[in-house]
Amino acid sequence: MFFGSDTTAPAHPSVLKAMARANEGYPHSYGADHAMDEIRAQIRDLFEAPDAAVYLVATGTAANALILATLIDPWQAVFCHRSAHIETDECGAPEFYTGGAKLVLIDGEHAKISPDALKNALSTTGQVGVHGVQRGMLSLTNATENGTIYTPAEVAALTKIAHADGLPVHMDGARFANAVVAAGCTPAQMTWKAGVDALSFGGTKNGLIGVEGVIFFDPKHAWEFELRRKRGGHLFSKHRYLAAQMQAYLDGDLWRDMATAANAAAQRLSKGILTIEGASLVHPTQANGVFASWPRIGHRRAYAAGAEYYFWPEGASLEGPDDETLPARLMCSWSTTNDDVDDFLAAIRG
Ligand SMILES: Cc1ncc(COP(=O)(O)O)c(C=O)c1O
Repeated sequence: MFFGSDTTAPAHPSVLKAMARANEGYPHSYGADHAMDEIRAQIRDLFEAPDAAVYLVATGTAANALILATLIDPWQAVFCHRSAHIETDECGAPEFYTGGAKLVLIDGEHAKISPDALKNALSTTGQVGVHGVQRGMLSLTNATENGTIYTPAEVAALTKIAHADGLPVHMDGARFANAVVAAGCTPAQMTWKAGVDALSFGGTKNGLIGVEGVIFFDPKHAWEFELRRKRGGHLFSKHRYLAAQMQAYLDGDLWRDMATAANAAAQRLSKGILTIEGASLVHPTQANGVFASWPRIGHRRAYAAGAEYYFWPEGASLEGPDDETLPARLMCSWSTTNDDVDDFLAAIRG
């Protein structure tokens, strides 16, 4: 009953096997190995983007911050949702790596930016000449921090507005696979065909040990990114171990199978929670996270039975009236089983 985070989940056995295979021999370091050539080709194929620049880093924060730094200048603004990971959970890495770019926060239900909200933010930023930050870029998270997704059409509506002002668009895809599976689209439809310029292609939360892809659909950014990655301390010498994980992820579309399993577990959990008296969803369940609230007595029982998850927002107490409802975040992963879900629901019911 581990629903605390998709990062607490184990890596897929195929990934571990790929790591063991990668341990043989003496391939070139720093990404100059044959495996990286194959990955570049595979990702270009998967994304139907023959010219894309493709890199690997070990954390989502590095992928995001380095992409932002590559796409804008220090005096520019990154438009993002108020609950975007780049705002809430990266310890200022985006500001640090960009040399001080400003994050302009946009509100919106279920962690999503609406076209009107984006237009409003654009119209009130960069209007005072040299005195204000200039408009720089848009960053969208998909799947969002609230377990919802943007469809390709929704992405396209936002990128159209950004591009009309000459702003590039980044997608934080720490849970990109979950979003693609949920939308029933292709990776290309969710990204460059919908106007996305650069993607953080998440793997860590979806069964890898620690790898995120960085994809620029316009290769003109390649060299600057390479320099920034090295300068920022994120060019791995033993890069083959990053490559091995990504290869396992891509082989046979393991990324898709794992995201499908995680999303299905979240659906089962979401539907099950709604059968509990007094329970409701805080956000629609569209990817691998369930944001729901139910009476304290059920939380008390779940915790007593050993379940692990977080109140969301954190800080609620198990002490208090039984029937008061408390919101929680429950993350599913490729390894969440039907039994895990059913045991958890049974624990809540007591
Ligand atoms: C939406 C989102 N983006 C990026 C990240 C990357 O995080 P990390 O740097 O921990 O790999 C996370 C991790 O929680 C996330 O949820």
